[in-house]
Amino acid sequence: MGDDPDRIPLLPPAAWPARLDVLESAVRTRTTLAPRLGIVLGSGLGGLADELESPVAIPFAELPGWPAATAPGHAGRLVLGRLAGVPVVALQGRFHLYEGHPVGLVVQPVLLMARLGAPVVLLTNAAGGVDPAYRAGTLMLIADHLNLTGVNPLIGPNDDALGPRFPDMVDAWDPALRALLRRAAGEVSVSLEEGVYAQLLGPNYETPAEVRMLQVLGASAVGMSTVVEAVAARWAGLRLAGISLITNPGAGITGEPLVHEEVLAAGEAAGPQMRALVRRFAELLDGASVSVP
Ligand code: HPA
Repeated sequence: MGDDPDRIPLLPPAAWPARLDVLESAVRTRTTLAPRLGIVLGSGLGGLADELESPVAIPFAELPGWPAATAPGHAGRLVLGRLAGVPVVALQGRFHLYEGHPVGLVVQPVLLMARLGAPVVLLTNAAGGVDPAYRAGTLMLIADHLNLTGVNPLIGPNDDALGPRFPDMVDAWDPALRALLRRAAGEVSVSLEEGVYAQLLGPNYETPAEVRMLQVLGASAVGMSTVVEAVAARWAGLRLAGISLITNPGAGITGEPLVHEEVLAAGEAAGPQMRALVRRFAELLDGASVSVP
């Protein structure tokens, strides 16, 4: 059973170093920038990458082994540059499980960010509100997560030199970074909820029964990304922070159907708040106020 190649998932952890070597070289032919922070920009949030100073933008398809982005609302570029003077690497769009990608590809961008030297990664996403108090436009700090995808990027042969076989997930969403995000939000007058993000596979939006199930499970928001990236990031020792932009109440809460274009529009409407928050977070992170290895 164990030696049946069909049972070994594509791109297990032991296969990542070779991939990352090639990706790192491809990026380094274009820029020497040493990022202090990696940022993954979710649906409708990609505009932040356009604010980077002296940007070097690399379309996904120009990076070895990376396919072009297919999800509407996702530009599909890796952009290195400075945000409020702070060197950052941003992913404008991401790979999703629902596109049919192996989970080992979905997590490569965050692992590449680590490889490029970023000690911290900020994952953002558009999400449905499971907490009935959340409105379109609510920003939620991710305090914890539920992996309801049924897949895990760490399955398969491990490389213990890079990350542990059984990584701990207590405080996966770094308490010091959460405090810094709350402080940044206060300073730019943005209100921030805090809750648990659940990732489902998608691509269909949830049924009302599924949203009720998620409420029972303790989720505050639901989406189709982020959690598998978070698992790989913690395995690799990255410090992790996350923000969900609630673009709609979850299915069944208002009785309205969910339409992707409306989800994207809500993302764009809240863009300025989100951008102000992330910019201030980058500045605070760069200051001496928090110790980030
Ligand atoms: N469900 C899942 N993913 C989403 C939603 C939702 O309601 N809104 C934005 N992304």
